[in-house]
Amino acid sequence: MLELKGVHYQPAISDQPVLQGLDLTVSIGKPALVAGPSGSGKTTLIEIISGMAQPQKGHVSWQGSNLNARQRRWLCGVVFQFPERHFLGLTVSQELRLGHRRLGHEDQIKVLRKVGLADISLQKAPEKLSGGEQRRLAVAVQLLRHPKILLLDEPTAGLDWSVRDEVLNLLANLALDQVLVVVTHEPELFKELPISSFELKSGKLLPTTRFK
Ligand SMILES: Nc1ncnc2c1ncn2[C@@H]1O[C@H](COP(=O)(O)OP(=O)(O)OP(=O)(O)O)[C@@H](O)[C@H]1O
Ligand SMILES: [Mg+2]
Repeated sequence: MLELKGVHYQPAISDQPVLQGLDLTVSIGKPALVAGPSGSGKTTLIEIISGMAQPQKGHVSWQGSNLNARQRRWLCGVVFQFPERHFLGLTVSQELRLGHRRLGHEDQIKVLRKVGLADISLQKAPEKLSGGEQRRLAVAVQLLRHPKILLLDEPTAGLDWSVRDEVLNLLANLALDQVLVVVTHEPELFKELPISSFELKSGKLLPTTRFK
């Protein structure tokens, strides 16, 4: 179980706090959806959970133990808003093997199958994949790290309707195996998913029942 308690965060060059006493509890099988308008602090929340930023007050714990930033970086996998901008490999296979040089053919196929990409060619260039396929590849890259906590920043941003459904199905499956936190400014898209909804407002999370 991931738990955030009383998290306060004010970026060094900001005169306003972004998170102000934020609490959140997320378990495997019960993913959390965090909605909020632009600038409300959704990406900042992901940065705090994943150890890219350190709160001034409060704590982040896993299975009851407080975690420092390094431990959080180790436990978390992050898929950014436009993951395709961060691809480095010339092929799907190369992308999967970055940081996992010995990853064999079978294991590459296995992780691609997990994200519903079993049928794509390992030799295809990542930028030639569709938007939905690129998101899936980015998730596959993170899954290779076996993260206990998977954090997705705007997973449906910029996708057209046909591929959004594919990504939503993938999220439902991922939530069965790891703690999953999704941040979005379009929460209505997730209304079919069994997901706990929150709104990030004035630096705190409020449960929402609107889309249940
Ligand atoms: N490193 C930083 N330095 C200064 N201000 C920051 C920093 N990081 C975030 N902020 C400020 O914190 C606030 C929240 O930003 P954040 O990117 O978390 O919002 P968001 O909800 O993800 O927005 P969007 O929907 O546009 O992605 C903004 O006002 C932003 O300017
Ligand atoms: Mg953001």
